[in-house]
Amino acid sequence: MNADTAPRGRLTGKAIVVTGAGRGLGAAYARLAAAEGASVIVNDVDGGAAASIGAEIGAICDDSDIATWEGAGRLIETCRSAYGRIDGLVNNAGIFHLAHPREQDPAEFRRMIEVNLLGTAYCGLHAIRAMLDQPGGGSVVNVTSGSQAGSAAMGAYGASKGGVASLTYCWAADLAGTAVRVNAVSPNAHTRMADTFERYLGERARGQNVGKPPATNAPAVVYLLSDAAAGIHGQVVRVDGDELSLMTHPGVAMPAVRMPAWTVAAVAAAFDDELARRQQPLGVHRGIDMNGVDMNGAAGA
Ligand SMILES: NC(=O)c1ccc[n+]([C@@H]2O[C@H](COP(=O)([O-])OP(=O)(O)OC[C@H]3O[C@@H](n4cnc5c(N)ncnc54)[C@H](O)[C@@H]3O)[C@@H](O)[C@H]2O)c1
Repeated sequence: MNADTAPRGRLTGKAIVVTGAGRGLGAAYARLAAAEGASVIVNDVDGGAAASIGAEIGAICDDSDIATWEGAGRLIETCRSAYGRIDGLVNNAGIFHLAHPREQDPAEFRRMIEVNLLGTAYCGLHAIRAMLDQPGGGSVVNVTSGSQAGSAAMGAYGASKGGVASLTYCWAADLAGTAVRVNAVSPNAHTRMADTFERYLGERARGQNVGKPPATNAPAVVYLLSDAAAGIHGQVVRVDGDELSLMTHPGVAMPAVRMPAWTVAAVAAAFDDELARRQQPLGVHRGIDMNGVDMNGAAGA
């Protein structure tokens, strides 16, 4: 079959960077992107892991630490110098630690923000600037998590992923009307992160991600990178096994209670009369925390 008769993939002709693609979900995104015709850059701070996936799918590999401005810049530049442009960035690299407030190590908290939030922001800023300067724009896919909606022992991780969701909404507002699109995915898969979760929570977490291989999350990412998603912008797409959905955006829970001038007593009365019973549920699982605790006071599930 020559180039004219070969079937075109959904990403044929596109240069795509996937961060943290040496294993787990990132490797699955890189594999499907390559199978759909993309020229892929496989990044991972674990250079051996990046090299192994790179060799498997015929991609260029890169071992930059995306948590630094320079590392993120080097990665995006590697793509531009190899392919002359960058059409897609999957901001997948991340780290995961669990800790309740009493045991939280501040250095670990800082590192999670540096990798998960600043790493995403740094790669995104370098990529968006390049995409705005090239014909055809591009697509950024960030990676958030259900923990952003509230999950026990995930203060640092959830804050980093909530930051990624907010970054997605803000950049989508910045880039509205341009050819650069920014969305996010909230995936679910049995990877070494799931193993960390099980080690921490034991029986309560056992099997949460069983039957959810990383590859089940890849089609949504490839779709968002592709031209088929040209009208999709500022969304968080959740993949959870056989479910595909959109996360709601944070907004004002209406109706508001109105008062010409608020006093502490008036605020207390507003809560007593109405707002206390309208408190918003925590967690993405209809108010049930990942570790099985009902966080909204009703009977557990
Ligand atoms: N596994 C899940 O169910 C799940 C759920 C929600 C969100 N996520 C998110 O999906 C992403 C991938 O998760 P995973 O489960 O595949 O994890 P994983 O630990 O298997 O893979 C993460 C990869 O990122 C790399 N990495 C870490 N820091 C890096 C850095 N500074 N620079 C470059 N690479 C770096 C690691 O070396 C690793 O190969 C993460 O952002 C994670 O937070 C995962």
